[in-house]
Amino acid sequence: MKNKIALGASLMCADYLNLERDIRLLEQSGVDYLHFDVMDGHFVPNFGLNLDLLKTARRITNLPINVHLMIDNAADYIDTYIDAGCNSLSFHQEPTYHIQKLLQRIKDRGVQAGIALNPATPLNTLEYILSDLDFVLIMTVNPGFAGQELVPSTLKKISKLKKIILENKLDIEIQVDGNVSFENIPNMVEAGATMLVGGTSSLFLKKLTISKATQKIYDLLP
Ligand code: DX5
Ligand code: ZN
Repeated sequence: MKNKIALGASLMCADYLNLERDIRLLEQSGVDYLHFDVMDGHFVPNFGLNLDLLKTARRITNLPINVHLMIDNAADYIDTYIDAGCNSLSFHQEPTYHIQKLLQRIKDRGVQAGIALNPATPLNTLEYILSDLDFVLIMTVNPGFAGQELVPSTLKKISKLKKIILENKLDIEIQVDGNVSFENIPNMVEAGATMLVGGTSSLFLKKLTISKATQKIYDLLP
């Protein structure tokens, strides 16, 4: 996922009754990775994609799978999700105690490690883990549901993070998740986003095929 803007597809926004078809369409459209949302009904007020689904998706595609854990007890499940075959994994800063240790564990297992920040969580929580990070997931909506509006202050947060990365000469990707729409993508990328998560705002639209939507997103990229 280095050196270009990577486009990911949020699987929670795909058609569950035709998941294999959608994965094939995403592959053919040139999407770079699958984004796999895991929710526990506690850290976020919704339930999300489960482990068996991840194993099933892993069996049928070679696309990189990026897991986003929106759960209270990430420490208990990180190895389980890595065993199921993900290529990169993020967990949330807010409910987690031993963040540096967990990032290290993910990297030791050969998986790219990221921390996810809710819109209200400040960037200074990253100060002492910068060298442990492959990517930071800036939530551009409050996590849990598709179809929400962008929280505008998160654009400034992306720019600030980009500045920190450049000043410290770090190699950290900035992922954005939530309302990654045709309208918001240019602003997100301009601010510094390098990994996009396309959901109901752009990739999975009723009036546009996955292939046309993907092309429209790529046309917006520099
Ligand atoms: C929230 C999810 C969503 C998802 C939906 O926790 O991770 O952000 O990708 O995308 P949109 O906002 O486009 O429906
Ligand atoms: Zn997500």
